[in-house]
Amino acid sequence: MAKKLWEKAGTVNPEIEKFTVGKDRELDLMLAPYDILGSIAHSTMLRSIGMLTNEETESLHRELREIYTLTESGDFCIEEGVEDVHSQVELMLTRKLGDTGKKIHSGRSRNDQVLLDLKLFIRHELQQVCHDTKELFDRLIEKSNRHRNILMPGYTHLQVAMPSSFGLWFGAYAESLTDDMLFLKAAYCMCNRNPLGSAAGYGSSFPLDRSMTTNLMGFDSMNYNVVYAQMGRGKCERNVAYALAGVAGTLAKMAFDACLFNSQNFGFIKLPAECTTGSSIMPHKKNPDVFELLRAKCNRLQAIPTDITLIMNNLPSGYFRDLQIIKEVFLPAFEELKNCLSMAAYIIERIEVNEHILDDSRYDPMFSVEEVNRLAAEGLPFRDAYKKVGLDIEAGTFIADKEIHHTHEGSIGNLCNDSISTLMQSIYDSMNFEKAITAEKALLGRI
Ligand code: ARG
Repeated sequence: MAKKLWEKAGTVNPEIEKFTVGKDRELDLMLAPYDILGSIAHSTMLRSIGMLTNEETESLHRELREIYTLTESGDFCIEEGVEDVHSQVELMLTRKLGDTGKKIHSGRSRNDQVLLDLKLFIRHELQQVCHDTKELFDRLIEKSNRHRNILMPGYTHLQVAMPSSFGLWFGAYAESLTDDMLFLKAAYCMCNRNPLGSAAGYGSSFPLDRSMTTNLMGFDSMNYNVVYAQMGRGKCERNVAYALAGVAGTLAKMAFDACLFNSQNFGFIKLPAECTTGSSIMPHKKNPDVFELLRAKCNRLQAIPTDITLIMNNLPSGYFRDLQIIKEVFLPAFEELKNCLSMAAYIIERIEVNEHILDDSRYDPMFSVEEVNRLAAEGLPFRDAYKKVGLDIEAGTFIADKEIHHTHEGSIGNLCNDSISTLMQSIYDSMNFEKAITAEKALLGRI
């Protein structure tokens, strides 16, 4: 069995080892590409301060890039007896390069290494989440524009309230995603600061050039204070999880609306038969399981910030192994949300809307406010108009005029979808993903 990085004369109790390593050997695989990128930047910096020769640095880069391709092909693994991704990469370098491999850990600790891996991982995953969110946004805006003239009932207290439209319904979820995108942007900015060089949490006596690694990895700036850099573990994940929860909240609400509107009692939307699932006993069933699962998954995603808070709450400053457990709840969240986003975009496109909902007279009373407003515009005081229409409804003499005229910004007749799209695009563009992507390519020697 391979020795631990920190093992000296004695050996570790296997029960303790199993418990402390936990799920790291599996979860750290997600961090592997980023661990390698960090090592390329770190070794470049070590050369600049005279801790590595040119030849040593070049051989390290060659090996690290080789290991990176293993992570791409799925052939990278953390061997039996090796604790984590950091140990595995160092072991592979040392097997290949001997003493040169053993030099790479100068001036760093696994504490800042895992902080860095997480930040680079989050940065990459957030780029995809933002992209997928924008895709869903575009689908919703398209759908809203296409069905802008089709009316549907709007509800308060789940009681028929006022006329609404499919333009408003789809567009509302699009605009909700613009606010969610703002949180994603804040999360991206927060994780786009370099913690490398904070070492175990208190810096190093080597004259590390932290500005250099910051630039090499395309970070916006660094977490300057080394104690704060370590305090960012847990805080960063929690805040990112809040940003993911924002998107998940929008999806869960939309999914619930869709389940409701798809029910026969509403009949506002329909899914094509191949997008529904059947029942083992009731031959007529065409169930909207896709929306139910979206709802459940997205509701569960919203619990993650709380999970993280409970793990890290009340820890004093400095590293603790508690922080390792956050990876278990946090790392899989990205894949889950990305799956939900792409399924939501897929299914939104396929929703069929009922263009004749309002032919049913049960919805007639929702035009009462239109009539009150019409009378008020003609000069009747609003309260008198309200009373007259109310009495007509009770007497059964109210006749709904379904020609409606809503013109103000954001209303049925003036959705402002172009303004909403401009807002979304400007938040998306301001994140400037290209900077990080270019820096990572350069580290891999791919430009
Ligand atoms: N697996 C550890 C984690 O995720 C890596 C850092 C280990 N550091 C330590 N001091 N034991 O936190």
